[in-house]
Amino acid sequence: MKNNLNIAIIGLGVVGSSLVKIIENNNYVIKDTKINIVGIKANNKNKKRIFDVKKYFWIDDLESLNSLDIDIIIELVGGTDTFVNSIYKYALKRKVSLITANKAQLAEKGDSFFNLFDSNDLYLGFEAAVLGSVPVVNTISKSILPKNITSIYGIFNGTTNYILSQMYFNKISFKESLDLAIKNGFAEQNSSSDLSGKDAAHKLTLLSNLSFGKKFKFKEMSYDGIENIKLIDLNYGLQLGYKLKLLSICEKIGSKFFASVAPCFVKQESLLSNTNFEDNLAIIEGINFVKTSLLGKGAGGYPTASSIISDLMNYISKDYSNVFNTKYDSMLLAKFVDTSSRKRSYYLRFSVQNKVGVLKSIANFFAKKSISIKSIIQLNPYDSNTVPLVIITNLISDKKINEIKKLLKKNSYIKKEISTIRIEDNIG
Ligand SMILES: NC(=O)c1ccc[n+]([C@@H]2O[C@H](COP(=O)([O-])OP(=O)(O)OC[C@H]3O[C@@H](n4cnc5c(N)ncnc54)[C@H](OP(=O)(O)O)[C@@H]3O)[C@@H](O)[C@H]2O)c1
Repeated sequence: MKNNLNIAIIGLGVVGSSLVKIIENNNYVIKDTKINIVGIKANNKNKKRIFDVKKYFWIDDLESLNSLDIDIIIELVGGTDTFVNSIYKYALKRKVSLITANKAQLAEKGDSFFNLFDSNDLYLGFEAAVLGSVPVVNTISKSILPKNITSIYGIFNGTTNYILSQMYFNKISFKESLDLAIKNGFAEQNSSSDLSGKDAAHKLTLLSNLSFGKKFKFKEMSYDGIENIKLIDLNYGLQLGYKLKLLSICEKIGSKFFASVAPCFVKQESLLSNTNFEDNLAIIEGINFVKTSLLGKGAGGYPTASSIISDLMNYISKDYSNVFNTKYDSMLLAKFVDTSSRKRSYYLRFSVQNKVGVLKSIANFFAKKSISIKSIIQLNPYDSNTVPLVIITNLISDKKINEIKKLLKKNSYIKKEISTIRIEDNIG
């Protein structure tokens, strides 16, 4: 055995406990290096866990680590509270590297410490923080020339993908699917960060920093979730050859960027469309290599802990550099395109009165806003008075779609809410 590596694991929940088990099952050896778990910490020392807690030194508070020789702290607590912050401060004070699965902390607070990890030559491993077991950070860092990436997109949240997949496969509502996902352990009781698109936006922020070598601020990232998605739109989409996915995307347009997390229709035959349940997908496009796709388990204790192991292997091989490969201090702020310059087709569904002349009146509204219609589909009436109508527009901006929505709401023939979904039919 050549080396020893001393690690402290803080957070022993789903991921932390799985990590201890993987290390135990490998007889505390990774890449010819002896792994010493010098301390462990969680909230409750007496909680029953999948490993024997008594085998390890229990860290009562961070200061009790002072007397221990540590190479790496592994933070698997989650969230952005003061305790989590104190772990990062402690690692920097002790000048030890840190590995984490905590995308919220990195995306929301990282701006205050990324440069300190860089300037102290410390490793900040975050493979596990983005897309669970999918080795997207390693692929971007080691296999693609810097500045060669033109876009990164995919399915970055397993919970929402699981919920949408169940809606499709079991023909159930969003609410029923969410309840089932909670029951089956694929959603938390409080899944608001997943459902709102915030969790995917955290990951998109980090992957955009890494892919483009620019500073993307989480608070500037636009995100929207799946809470208002209706089964009826999924079914109409299928009839039109589309599947709905919570799509995360960051693409370079000239020297600026378009970044968004939003429910979008994608082509049914695409890889995006066929990535189901808790699987995550990252597709990277760029110069020379053209396109590469990575698909795998986006969550779960063992899959996520396997990415922590991957970061430990990087550390052991000394195969790491700055957090985002480029020194954070030297990275410029990313500038965003005016979204009205990015045009896509849109799906609109609304209900109209079952009367002669309604279609003409609605078509006039679109003409008034210079929006051309690719197709208009009148579906089976809900009842004798109400007919659902689906319109697919030609390429237009999000600004235009909001304008037409406002206008349509004033039309007395239109009865219910207007559902709009962006169509991304040239990717995936
Ligand atoms: N679960 C996944 O599939 C998954 C996937 C990708 C990334 N992640 C990320 O991995 C991280 C951990 O997630 P998880 O699912 O393992 O969470 P979890 O099961 O809720 O575990 C959190 C752990 O942190 C401990 N903890 C909480 N507050 C603490 C405090 N103030 N002091 C000390 N310990 C504290 C808890 O202690 P007790 O056990 O005593 O309560 C628990 O062991 C998060 O950042 C999450 O976003 C998770």
